[in-house]
Amino acid sequence: NWTMSSVIDEQVEAIRAQVGDKRVLCGLSGGVDSSVAAALVHRAVGDQLTCVFVDHGLLRSGEAEQVEKDYVAVTGINLKVVDAQETFLKELSGVVDPESKRKIIGREFIRAFENAAREIDAEGPIEYLVQGTLYPDVVESGGGTGTANIKSHHNVGGLPEDLKFTLVEPLRTLFKDEVRAIGTELGLPESMVWRHPFPGPGLGIRIIGEVTAERLEILRAADAVARAELTAAGLDRSVWQFPVVLLADVRSVGVAGDGRTYGHPIVLRPVSSEDAMTADWSRLPYEVLARISTRITNEVPEVNRVTLDITSKPPGTIEWE
Ligand code: XMP
Repeated sequence: NWTMSSVIDEQVEAIRAQVGDKRVLCGLSGGVDSSVAAALVHRAVGDQLTCVFVDHGLLRSGEAEQVEKDYVAVTGINLKVVDAQETFLKELSGVVDPESKRKIIGREFIRAFENAAREIDAEGPIEYLVQGTLYPDVVESGGGTGTANIKSHHNVGGLPEDLKFTLVEPLRTLFKDEVRAIGTELGLPESMVWRHPFPGPGLGIRIIGEVTAERLEILRAADAVARAELTAAGLDRSVWQFPVVLLADVRSVGVAGDGRTYGHPIVLRPVSSEDAMTADWSRLPYEVLARISTRITNEVPEVNRVTLDITSKPPGTIEWE
């Protein structure tokens, strides 16, 4: 694609001019914006860039592996993976309130990211931080440079004094569709380039009740089925987001073979939207819903009921927490 390759060339030149021979840091979330921003910066300055991926254990099935393996294989980026799964589970233990979960996840995320940044900085000073700010974000914030993506994603404040970096924002003039086109041009995995928006607190706010390792495993299995069937039906791009929610503190009676079961309900929450401010529930074809239901109840033994959320936003929100 000629237009996109010239955009890439321009951005690469601009990044080189800004960064010179200094070191650059970037936090990866698995989402399209940070992935494309980092890939552009890597194309421009290669090994001067180091990326950090904090694995909080709250991503969906395959997403951490996608960053750690596929993305690194395609880009050749230097990646530091922080395995913080145990810490997050420990800090979240006993926590049920949604805002408390968000605060804890945001706080622990920043703590892990800052520790990694300090270690990388100790190997040679870091001057720049990459941010996947898009043009609509720039307009929304009145044209100024905002706080780091990673922070706003988790709704927490600015960086500490010893970790003040100058921002590199290679997507600042671009819209989402252009960012996707660039990602495709750079050879990033299609499922990464076309990933639906996903909240910073991840599956932590899609388990209604306490977050535990077992519950995460149940939700991951159900979510993987729902997403696979949506993709197989060719409907990924007609849905804005497709949260799958585990009602972990609710049980209902069911029947399997010659016995009764007492399992958890799963809620499917496919929505259509332009900007997440308002949304409508997606009218997915009955056959697709039927396949998702049959497969989840067959393949995830802890789940014996699949329900569909048919609430618009407002009055509902997209997420359940
Ligand atoms: P709601 O649930 O308020 O969500 O309709 C609107 C959009 O925001 C996402 N969302 C979040 N994103 N941190 C994030 O980075 C959060 O705490 C958070 N909560 C909701 C949600 O997925 C939807 O796209």
